[in-house]
Amino acid sequence: MVLTSALRKFLLTLHVLSSLGWAGAVAVFVVIDIAALTGSDPQLGRLLWLALQAAVWSLLVPLAFTSLLTGVMLALGTVWGLFRHYWVLFKLVLTLIATVVLVLYTQTISTVASMAVDPAMSGMDFPSALLHTGGGLVVLVLTTVLAIYKPRGMTRYGQRKRQEQGKQTVP
Ligand code: HEM
Repeated sequence: MVLTSALRKFLLTLHVLSSLGWAGAVAVFVVIDIAALTGSDPQLGRLLWLALQAAVWSLLVPLAFTSLLTGVMLALGTVWGLFRHYWVLFKLVLTLIATVVLVLYTQTISTVASMAVDPAMSGMDFPSALLHTGGGLVVLVLTTVLAIYKPRGMTRYGQRKRQEQGKQTVP
């Protein structure tokens, strides 16, 4: 499958918007979490979990799947391929891990958010989500760096494919 120029641009727009939108949204949660931990406002702990609950299925999970799906389509529909270049392969693995961890974490988010609606609980009683949000942000920054720098290394499969294609064009 080779993408037409118009379709590639459309998919790339969706890909960059969803991937960096996902990173930006996670960055907001990291900032709220740090503010809650430093104790600037006791209500921030509660706000963090209620906001996570509001955003997780309506924003974070859809962005993660859009990034993954458009990334795979771009890889398969261009010369990059899905398993030919290490930078694409690493992005695939990192994004898959981040998406699985996010989906698994939705359970914890609903449990803690259901406690956060209880006015008897103090904002200070809520746990931090920094391990997940901060870890997620690091992974998303890493995938962005890989996307921009596109380090050269090719997998053995990619090298073999390139040789085969080279042979086909030289009779
Ligand atoms: C959250 C994770 C991801 C982020 C932050 C991200 C970010 C980006 C960015 C900023 C670009 C534009 C780079 C440029 O045009 O120079 C890009 C392109 C690309 N991404 Fe991703 N990406 C992510 C996930 C993925 C995944 C999972 C795949 C597939 C395995 C993928 C495959 C690609 C490919 C092949 C391109 C080049 C498209 C082209 O040249 O038309 N990305 N990515």
